[in-house]
Amino acid sequence: MNYFKEINPADISDNVIKLIGSDWMLITAGDHVRQNCMTASWGGIGVMWNYPVAVAVIRPQRFTYEFTEREDKLTLSFLGEEYRKALSYCGTHSGRDEDKIANAGLSVAFTESDTPAIAQARLVLECKKLYVSDLKAENFLDQTIIERWYPEKDFHRAYVLQILTAYIKE
Ligand SMILES: Cc1cc2nc3c(=O)[nH]c(=O)nc-3n(C[C@H](O)[C@H](O)[C@H](O)COP(=O)(O)O)c2cc1C
Repeated sequence: MNYFKEINPADISDNVIKLIGSDWMLITAGDHVRQNCMTASWGGIGVMWNYPVAVAVIRPQRFTYEFTEREDKLTLSFLGEEYRKALSYCGTHSGRDEDKIANAGLSVAFTESDTPAIAQARLVLECKKLYVSDLKAENFLDQTIIERWYPEKDFHRAYVLQILTAYIKE
């Protein structure tokens, strides 16, 4: 992670609703041999069990899911507006079919503990999985969400992730 500087997660100054919901993030997981990333615009950043945490939700059919299931750690990378096309690409193409990261014009950088992230990011959160749970139909108090977002009943798996390290581009 050359050119990145470690900061305290409590010093992240972005509005997280805009950061995730409008700017979007790239969830990246894997190892030195193979990595994959996907765009995500749902999730959160907050506090659980006194840890700074992020929440990500990933549908089981995503190729990225295979990596987030296999690995203990993953990263969330946030890129500037100039990478909007790359983020759209990573949200509409699957790494199952191609080298998506390269084809999006992006490249991988590894954290000090060897977790893959996106080199072009302005902010990277290195995270460790603490808790996973699949969303369940019977737990939706507003059932219209199921009609709108889950016609295939492909409920997300929710990951609560401890933010181990936050890096910003110097
Ligand atoms: C703006 C945007 C936000 C997205 N957010 C999510 C999300 O939060 N969770 C999810 O499972 N898929 C989300 N997707 C869909 C995945 O990014 C998309 O299916 C991607 O092609 C999966 O790639 P993969 O098969 O290489 O993992 C989003 C797509 C876009 C364009």
